[in-house]
Order: sequence, then structure tokens, then C-alpha cells
Amino acid sequence: MTGIFITFEGIDGVGKSTQANLLQDYLEGLNHKVVRTLEPGGTELGQEIRQLLLHRKGEVAPRAEALLFSADRAHHVATKIRPALAEGSVVISDRYFDSSVAYQGAGRALSMEEVREINLWAVDGLLPTLTVLLDLDASEARARRNTTGTEPDRMEREKIEYFEATRQAFLKLASNEPDRFFVVDAAQSVETMQAQIRARVNAILG
Ligand code: TYD
Repeated sequence: MTGIFITFEGIDGVGKSTQANLLQDYLEGLNHKVVRTLEPGGTELGQEIRQLLLHRKGEVAPRAEALLFSADRAHHVATKIRPALAEGSVVISDRYFDSSVAYQGAGRALSMEEVREINLWAVDGLLPTLTVLLDLDASEARARRNTTGTEPDRMEREKIEYFEATRQAFLKLASNEPDRFFVVDAAQSVETMQAQIRARVNAILG
């Protein structure tokens, strides 16, 4: 494996895609081949799974939800991420399996350990080179999200306590793996955050 795999994580509304887009521009400016992707829905099959997870009416049982997210991820890794890394690209993904561990493991029926285990199986052990965690208070993140004016999806209709528990779960993951995670205070300006992220990525690129 020759490429570099960078994931962006954090609760809804912290600005992951803005930061991922700016990092993509920067790396392309340095002549890196960048594959920008996302979960859920980074492949055609994944788009159908995304639809089921976020926009289908009715309840989804917790284990079914965890397996649907991990099915999306298994296909994404096998057909898009691994091939891109094999050809030396930098892969930037908006969310990866830490999202499942945090969201499905926080406040729901499943433990973080079991969600991590099924996901490690799903991706056949592929860990990111770097995971950027954008950290923000759950009520602040919700306030930012509300300004976009779009209808909330099934996950976004969850209570604020669920997002705060998810945030804490992300922070726990980061403290368990301090070498892989880079935690950024998402209350800072877009430019400040991007400068910190670029400095960290430059240290990896060498
Ligand atoms: P995302 O695509 O980031 O949201 P949006 O496009 O609406 O900004 O993610 C959709 C939702 O799915 C989000 O609430 C987080 C949730 N999610 C999980 O619960 N588990 C997962 O494994 C992933 C990847 C996302």
C-alpha cells in the first residue's frame, strides 16, 4: 500500500466537508492525486444503502443499522479506497468507521467495542493513516446545521443528548489512538483549522 488515507470525523455540523475540500485543493496544488469520497454513499451501491439508512420511513433495528453502515463501508473499501491507495493516491474520506463506533456505539443498544469489531472485519483491518476529528459542542454544531435550511434526515432528528454522547465517544476514540487522531477545535475559524490540518498532513508527507 503506497497511498495515504485521511479521514474526517465529528458530529453533524462541525464543518468536515469544508475542511476536507480545502485539504483536497491544497494537496492537488502540490500535485498529489486525490480521491475524495464519503460515507455513507461513496459508491453506487453505497448510495442505495445511504438512502435506506437516512431517508427510508420507519424504524431500523440497531444491529441492522450498524450492519447497513458497515456493508456500505465494506463495499467502499474494497472497490474504491483500496484500489486508490494501491495506485498511490491520497484518499480523503468524509467519515469512516470511527463514525460507526461513535454514533452506533453511543446511546444506542450496542457497545463501542462490538461495533468496532464488526467494522474492522468489514474493512479487513484497513485503518486510516490520519483521522482528523473536528470537535465542537453539540448545541453549537446543531445551531450551525440549522442554518443550511435542508430537511433533517433520520439521524439528524436525534436529540441533542445523543449528539453530545457521540461527541464524547469520538473524543474517547481519539485518546485511545493519539497517533492516528488529530483533534481540531472546530470553534476556531475555517482558516485557522485548515492551517492546523495542513501542518499535520505536511508532517506525514515528509
Ligand atoms: P453525513 O453524510 O456526514 O451527513 P450529511 O450529508 O447529512 O451532512 O452522515 C449522515 C449521517 O449518518 C450522520 O448523521 C452521521 C450518520 N452516520 C452514522 O451514524 N454511522 C456511520 O457509520 C456513518 C458513516 C454516518
